[in-house]
Amino acid sequence: MNQTIDLLTSHRSIRKFTDEPVDPDLFTRLVEAAQASASSSFLQGVTIIRVTDPGKRVALRDVAGGQAYVETAPEFLVFCADLSRPMRCCRQHGGTPAEGLTEQFVIATVDAALYAQNLVIAAESAGLGICYIGALRNDPAKVTELLDLPQQVYPVFGLCLGHPAQDPEVKPRLPVSVTLKTDSYSTDGEDEAIAAYDEEMRTYYANRSANIKIQGWSDQMAGLLAKEGRPHMLAFLQSQGFLTR
Ligand SMILES: Cc1cc2nc3c(=O)[nH]c(=O)nc-3n(C[C@H](O)[C@H](O)[C@H](O)COP(=O)(O)O)c2cc1C
Repeated sequence: MNQTIDLLTSHRSIRKFTDEPVDPDLFTRLVEAAQASASSSFLQGVTIIRVTDPGKRVALRDVAGGQAYVETAPEFLVFCADLSRPMRCCRQHGGTPAEGLTEQFVIATVDAALYAQNLVIAAESAGLGICYIGALRNDPAKVTELLDLPQQVYPVFGLCLGHPAQDPEVKPRLPVSVTLKTDSYSTDGEDEAIAAYDEEMRTYYANRSANIKIQGWSDQMAGLLAKEGRPHMLAFLQSQGFLTR
């Protein structure tokens, strides 16, 4: 349709990178592209920590369950939702920031995701590959300590970045008929469409070049949602000053 849409629909996560560094000027442009994203109330509630210290990389790899690319990717970024900066500004102007509101948590978390995805699209348009690392939330307190994150800041996810050393297949997504509704929510026709998508996913997983498995999508959700994923998150976020009301 056009090059941007073609780029977006050819995304796939990259988990193997060459040793070639990311050009420093390009890297700066990527961060500028991230910052150009829309921002709720123009809060700009994000800080990106670029982790270059090899010891910290190893520690973050371990937090992420040993995912090697966290250590070896040419660049590793941690996207933090950050309310501390706007709150500091509030105080400097004589205000008293209202802390702990769920709404503020949503704003800053959405900002971090939008910044990251802008950076990702910019990076992919320049021929780089990426992999998000949500597994940093396995031990967010450790990440917070390693990166000296203050109160009102939390690590939302990490991002590996570099030149791809693999060419994985594009993973099929749910049909638009399932995810797009008109005027009101309805599940009409979803079971049939998801069954067909399960079949497509089984074929994809059985035939892809790495990590072959026999699985559909909906049974994957059974495994995922039946377990309590990272139940420590609420207490952690509250300890950082988020989500107290
Ligand atoms: C917020 C977020 C966190 C993720 N965390 C991880 C992760 O810790 N490790 C990993 O290998 N992939 C991670 N992924 C990548 C997803 O597994 C991947 O995007 C999904 O399976 C779709 O595959 P694709 O990106 O190749 O299209 C994450 C993706 C997102 C958006």
